[in-house]
Amino acid sequence: MLIDGFGRKHTYLRLSLTERCNLRCQYCMPAEGVDLTPSPKLLTHNEILRLANLFVTYGVDKIRLTGGEPTVRKDIHDICSDLSSLKGLKTLAITTNGITLAKKLPMLKQCGITNLNISLDTLVPSKFEFMTRRKGHHKVIESINAAIDVGYNPVKVNCVVMRGFNDDEICDFVNLTVDKPINVRFIEFMPFDGNVWDVKKLIPYSEMLDTVAKKFPTLKRLCDHPTETAKNFQIDGHVGTVSFVTSMTEHFCAGCNRLRLLADGNLKVCLFGPSELKRSSSFRCW
Ligand code: GTP
Ligand code: 5AD
Ligand code: SF4
Repeated sequence: MLIDGFGRKHTYLRLSLTERCNLRCQYCMPAEGVDLTPSPKLLTHNEILRLANLFVTYGVDKIRLTGGEPTVRKDIHDICSDLSSLKGLKTLAITTNGITLAKKLPMLKQCGITNLNISLDTLVPSKFEFMTRRKGHHKVIESINAAIDVGYNPVKVNCVVMRGFNDDEICDFVNLTVDKPINVRFIEFMPFDGNVWDVKKLIPYSEMLDTVAKKFPTLKRLCDHPTETAKNFQIDGHVGTVSFVTSMTEHFCAGCNRLRLLADGNLKVCLFGPSELKRSSSFRCW
């Protein structure tokens, strides 16, 4: 078991398959993108497998594939198949922007992806284009619906809330949970190198909760797992659930069980901590 100096058991590995991304979200990276590690220095399929196998041997039972955008990696199919057959691994999850997901979904399901988190920050196509600096809103919506259709339950929808951008859409997002097995997760905006951070854009959890509770008075807190980053809620009669990821105003470091393996093979133990490489200090879904 991997236990750190604070007694935290690290059973959840976030594995970045690539630094590349087909979007340029303003809260993540600059318009020109980021300097990419040269391909020969990136982990190969076999290296990923070897490392993942070691982590699982030492007690990791959940792996989440991240990026960049993990689905742009060409050998994702083989990587998922091999990872899902690791003995002791209970959850093989992926966090994706959903742009090419609908097409790849049957393959990913077949290869053992058990859980899906899809990023979507607005229900308005023009706002999506503004925030991601790319087109493709309809593809993300299509992917969310396809994920529900192939049986993922819940489908987690990650929505980074920013004042003046999408704070007026909070209740519209909650309405997605009325009749769909969606877990909408409102995420506090975090500062990272090269993003458009401004403290005025941060909407604290307390304010988001207030907005939802006013419109949906039957909102009730659910029991959260001690290692979870999200605070979970249910509204009477809604099929789906609503959560808040309070990275800025209510830290969850004490219960953190995550490790991060970057696409270049560096290990990063905390999202906000340094890694071996200076350029790896920013976020980009890691
Ligand atoms: P689940 O496994 O479904 O709980 O997903 P997750 O929250 O672990 O992963 P996801 O990739 O969906 O990340 C969603 C949000 O969680 C990110 O936007 C971050 O705000 C936050 N997050 C993920 N990992 C960390 C972490 O280690 N520290 C902090 N502070 N926030 C994190
Ligand atoms: N603040 C909060 N969340 C962020 N994400 C990316 N950048 C930020 C940021 N600055 C989100 C993505 C994705 C998840 C892994 O992290 O939208 O859903
Ligand atoms: Fe790509 Fe995720 Fe960053 Fe958006 S937040 S640019 S989808 S890596």
